[in-house]
Amino acid sequence: MKIRLERSSGVPLYQQIEQIIKEKISQGEWPPGTKIPSQRKLADIFEVNRSTVTAALDELTAQGLLEGKRGGGTIVTNRTWSGLTEWPVLDWTGYVRSGIHRPNSLTIQEINRQEFKKDIIRLGTGELAPELLPYQQMKKILQDAEAGKLMLGYEEPKGNRYTREVLAAHLKEKGIHVSPDSILIVSGALQALQLISIGLLKRKAAVLTEKPSYLYSLHIFQSMEMRLYGLPLDERGLDPAVISACKKQHGADLLYTIPSFHNPTGFQMAEDRRKELIQVSKRLSLPIIEDDAYGDLWLDMPPPSPLKALDQDGNVLYVGTLSKTVSPGLRIGWVAGPEPVIDRLADIKMQTDYGSSSLSQWAAAKWISSGLYAENLKLIRNELKKRRDTALRCLEAYFGGLARWEKPRGGFYIWVTFLKPLAISALFEKALKKNILINPGTLYDKEAKQSIRLSYSYASRSDLENGIRIVAQLARELM
Ligand SMILES: Cc1ncc(COP(=O)(O)O)c(C=O)c1O
Repeated sequence: MKIRLERSSGVPLYQQIEQIIKEKISQGEWPPGTKIPSQRKLADIFEVNRSTVTAALDELTAQGLLEGKRGGGTIVTNRTWSGLTEWPVLDWTGYVRSGIHRPNSLTIQEINRQEFKKDIIRLGTGELAPELLPYQQMKKILQDAEAGKLMLGYEEPKGNRYTREVLAAHLKEKGIHVSPDSILIVSGALQALQLISIGLLKRKAAVLTEKPSYLYSLHIFQSMEMRLYGLPLDERGLDPAVISACKKQHGADLLYTIPSFHNPTGFQMAEDRRKELIQVSKRLSLPIIEDDAYGDLWLDMPPPSPLKALDQDGNVLYVGTLSKTVSPGLRIGWVAGPEPVIDRLADIKMQTDYGSSSLSQWAAAKWISSGLYAENLKLIRNELKKRRDTALRCLEAYFGGLARWEKPRGGFYIWVTFLKPLAISALFEKALKKNILINPGTLYDKEAKQSIRLSYSYASRSDLENGIRIVAQLARELM
């Protein structure tokens, strides 16, 4: 965010900043207890020198509105310069701290902010580059729509019937046989996980997953007081043989897995392990969430069948999304599973948001049924393959002797592990100073202090080359 000051107004810039901050405080936008942005950030926002910001903050501190905290940071202390208000000041920060859902890690909050900075090289982002999003085709299908066919009202609890029929046909092509009644349309795969956590599990439930996992970067299950247990993972996916022992030790109420092109490692679960996992799930009565966000993004050859295609007993809840293959902004995903489960999740979804955007559901149905999904996927695979190969070539060139990694067969990510210890948070900070964003491995596994998740889906090939070269240089300096 940038705020433009009136440079020709004759009012000194520090006074203009003082006034803007005062307004934010007096109007309750920054209530007492709010930690205001750092001086560095404020200087960036107002496009002034640090000293100008310091002058403004000194004034506000002298007026009793701000206070520097020991250990860094400045907080709002009062709403008026006299500190006198008619009523005691409402303590919003206390509420913010008390909310049940845990906040994102500070690193993720920082990444979420920095991703929108101009000219930043995004080497960690789990998203297709803007030039890979199908703006023209999407515009055309919306333009060609007959007005009467567009969907603008509320939809059925499980989502628009026609869209679910289209999805059922789409899943059939993967060997997954489910009827539209067993499908719930959700606002992205993330919502499916959220609904499952609040709709199907008790507090303290034990959730097993790969270690590292995308799931550790969220606090969906932990916020509901659930316990996450990480299972060892290698290039052939998680080993189902360890599940039984884990269950004996900690219990096991659910297993969450990303078998195809795992986030963050890019690994693919081998066919024999998939079959074994289905057997283990049967034997232990262990429900599985299969997150297949990346399954269609194979780059060399298709992955083995989804777990859901092997599941004859309804043990698997299958989660899919258009976010990684078409557009994350559509916010369209789905979950397929036994009908009572889907009914339960649909009921909670109705209480949460009355259904996913009907316009997006319409666009999704049109996109898939018209054949554009399959056609566009070919282009995306082609482009991702080039980017993956560029990333691998740059890793060979700059990371040789520094780290190890495996060639991903699909998806967006390469898991890069340094051969010697280094302070991964310092690498993150140093890279950020050079305008490069990387995702530290610790976001996906607290112990992965020597790894980063490198993404080749967003940065252009020249940015990949520059970014990887600079990160390698910074890592060498830190070792
Ligand atoms: C494995 C996995 N599941 C789910 C999601 C969330 O996707 P959506 O945008 O569909 O909510 C992501 C996004 O990074 C992901 O990597």
